[in-house]
Amino acid sequence: MEPNLLVIIPLLLLTTLVIGIGAGMILGRKAPWIPRKIVAIEASTVSGRGAFALKKIREGDIIERCPALEVTDKDIGGELLNYVFYGKTENARLVAMGNGMLFNHSSTPNVAYYREETSLGPELVLYALQDISKGEELFYSYGDEWWTTRQ
Ligand SMILES: C[S@@+](CC[C@H](N)C(=O)[O-])C[C@H]1O[C@@H](n2cnc3c(N)ncnc32)[C@H](O)[C@@H]1O
Repeated sequence: MEPNLLVIIPLLLLTTLVIGIGAGMILGRKAPWIPRKIVAIEASTVSGRGAFALKKIREGDIIERCPALEVTDKDIGGELLNYVFYGKTENARLVAMGNGMLFNHSSTPNVAYYREETSLGPELVLYALQDISKGEELFYSYGDEWWTTRQ
């Protein structure tokens, strides 16, 4: 029996389409979860460790989305105080996980951040305030209060 091309070709096309749509959905769903490898933690130019650009970053680019945990100031003490962000209320503190915790301070920062509520909890979203060259150290501002409340 001869293969009926009128049946086989549409079947092949349909199979390709279904596989393509499936792969697109999987990749599309995963995309927000795969952090682009654009930050490395290395010896800082100002203190201890710091965050550095592994590639050119453009103004407005999201550098990292840090899953965060809001706790109270009573949960945080000692040196850890220097690594957390302010939370929604006076006594709340935000523990941002990932590289976001290790950025050093500058009063002329090249990075800023905002908090975003997601279905899985808060995230601290770090983004570029300007074009940043590969190899540059990344800084956000801790704010004036941060320094006046510490020695
Ligand atoms: C969130 S940590 C930053 C990462 C830290 N450099 C490390 O090695 O773990 C905050 C601490 O880094 C230091 N730091 C951050 N920015 C600084 C700056 N511009 N000058 C001096 N020290 C800084 C301070 O000791 C501060 O307590």
